[in-house]
Amino acid sequence: PGEPLLDTRRRPLHDLRISVTDRCNFRCTYCMPREVFGTDYEFMPHADLLTFEEITRVARVAVSLGVEKIRLTGGEPLLRKNIERLVEMLSGLSTPAGRPVDLTLTTNGTLLAKKAAALKAAGLRRVTVSLDALDDTLFERMSDSQVTVQTVLDGIDEAARVGLAPVKVNMVVRKGLNDGQIVPMAERFRNSGHILRFIEYMDVGSTNGWNLAEVLTGAQILQRIGERFPVEPVHADYRGEVAARWRYLDGAGEIGVITSVSQPFCGDCTRARLSPEGKLFLCLFANQGHDLRALVRGRSSDEQLAARMASIWTGRDDHYSEMRGKNTASLHKIEMSYIGG
Ligand code: GTP
Ligand code: 5AD
Ligand code: SF4
Ligand code: SF4
Repeated sequence: PGEPLLDTRRRPLHDLRISVTDRCNFRCTYCMPREVFGTDYEFMPHADLLTFEEITRVARVAVSLGVEKIRLTGGEPLLRKNIERLVEMLSGLSTPAGRPVDLTLTTNGTLLAKKAAALKAAGLRRVTVSLDALDDTLFERMSDSQVTVQTVLDGIDEAARVGLAPVKVNMVVRKGLNDGQIVPMAERFRNSGHILRFIEYMDVGSTNGWNLAEVLTGAQILQRIGERFPVEPVHADYRGEVAARWRYLDGAGEIGVITSVSQPFCGDCTRARLSPEGKLFLCLFANQGHDLRALVRGRSSDEQLAARMASIWTGRDDHYSEMRGKNTASLHKIEMSYIGG
């Protein structure tokens, strides 16, 4: 204890992203295209999912190894039954230094207005909500759902109202599709207290037919915003922050830009990911994970589990975004809907 656990590139383990389900009520074309994730797609059977007790045990061990931030993801995490119970269990964890773990959740917002108060009461700190457009037709097209933009906006407002704030809003930008929404989105969330983040469209998974021509870079996004609302950079809060932060010169708040394609941030990547059925992935673009469920369901002690997780982390060399190129296009990668971004 005391010494941070470092991987082969000297990166400490700091964040754990826990995917609690591979299901979602949206079919975003860039994540779960309906041609692939249709009515006969077989999602994970419930018995394969880690139970809340099992998730909490892995999380507790991860925290003993240095994790200070835990994010719940999916699929859509609010679809997992009784998710507030898991939040309550995880919010009880504290770091070796005695600080409570920073517990957050990334959601598509459809069930948020209903659940925000219960999540807050269970100990959740903040939420991040995905929203790719303000225009209903475009939103329907991107999410391939009948949910209205207003439903998501209501979820965002309710989250802020109950104190899950500041709310971060994630917008994935696809050139030629929703890039016309950049300025309207900026305008809508200025002065709201929420932090809008623009995400470069990434080549995650193997089903979305990603193409570099559809990527609008962070620099291009900032230029469009800057023409309307001048911004200046804000310094990062901590090593390994994913979004580059900017603030409006007129004091209307902050925005973020996530440039995984044009300016990879692998050098500072401190994130591990736990899949719904208990595999530890060390990169969003990995093609396989390290099974922990056998250990968790077997007779291993917490010490044995810790030793296994520590050895997986210390052997880590992943830096996919820095190698992205011609020869990475055909690699098999896990799906975003399964590992949660
Ligand atoms: P905060 O720490 O609250 O700012 O959250 P976050 O940015 O880590 O989490 P969020 O779930 O909102 O992710 C935002 C976007 O960044 C998503 O598109 C993620 O897929 C992407 N992202 C998060 N972590 C990584 C990473 O390690 N590598 C890459 N390439 N993208 C990532
Ligand atoms: N590229 C960039 N971001 C993506 N997300 C899902 N798929 C992609 C992709 N291909 C985003 C979601 C959510 C976050 C966790 O990841 O919209 O906001
Ligand atoms: Fe669901 Fe999020 Fe994937 Fe959209 S991006 S299909 S909301 S998991
Ligand atoms: Fe981390 Fe992999 Fe993303 Fe690089 S590509 S920042 S190693 S998750």
